[in-house]
Amino acid sequence: MSKPIHQALTIALSKGRIFKETIPLLKAAGIEPLDDPETSRKLILDTTRDDVKIVIIRATDVPTYVQYGAADLGVTGKDVLMEHGGEGLYELLDLHIAKCKLMVAGFADQPLPTGTVHVATKFVNCARRYFSSQGRQAEIIKLYGSMELAPIVGLADCIVDVVDTGSTLKANGLVPLEPMFDVSSRLIVNKASLKTRHLPIKSMLRQIEAAVTVT
Ligand code: ATP
Ligand code: PRP
Repeated sequence: MSKPIHQALTIALSKGRIFKETIPLLKAAGIEPLDDPETSRKLILDTTRDDVKIVIIRATDVPTYVQYGAADLGVTGKDVLMEHGGEGLYELLDLHIAKCKLMVAGFADQPLPTGTVHVATKFVNCARRYFSSQGRQAEIIKLYGSMELAPIVGLADCIVDVVDTGSTLKANGLVPLEPMFDVSSRLIVNKASLKTRHLPIKSMLRQIEAAVTVT
């Protein structure tokens, strides 16, 4: 019989690309969700292992759930992890999925100001650290999405966002200006869970690790 959520090992995943790309890796550890989050409204998914459940949350919230032990494990982008800061959790494994880069992007023909740079982003901590490490003044403007619009309408000189193919930037007349760091998704674990549930986590980690394809 399936265990109640407080006894099961819980893995926090976000819908969309992280869910799709993580599922084959979890399968290697015998874990397959019994519902599809794209069609089901369930937020807690039973799996083919009665000791493992998957919780479906917003990508940005994954490190927070793991930090506080509301989920034992999670899969999150390095961008989200850097923005969160990593308190209360360990990064166990680079899964080599959902690869992209965190970039400063703006207009090709407009160099960024040498004085205060107005930066629109949802990655406010990453942007603040990046500009300050270079001794550049920056005013960080927090947005929750559609960052590419900000320079076009004069809200900012540039944006900080993830870029993969560059087609979203191109479609909006922007270009990548400065790469900040490479991003891929990471398996993270709550610090206390790693101690109290060491054996099942260790064995799951080994199985997932064997399924990761380094590209
Ligand atoms: P939220 O729903 O919390 O606002 P989100 O919409 O950014 O988050 P996703 O688009 O599913 O969530 O992105 C999840 C992760 O996938 C990101 O944190 C990043 O690491 C990676 N990612 C985002 N966009 C791309 C992309 N175009 N190509 C590859 N990986 C990406
Ligand atoms: C992400 C991100 C960028 C885009 C970059 O958006 O926010 O806008 O990918 O990818 P590209 O360089 O290949 O165009 P996503 O497609 O996840 O939609 P979202 O804005 O809803 O997260």
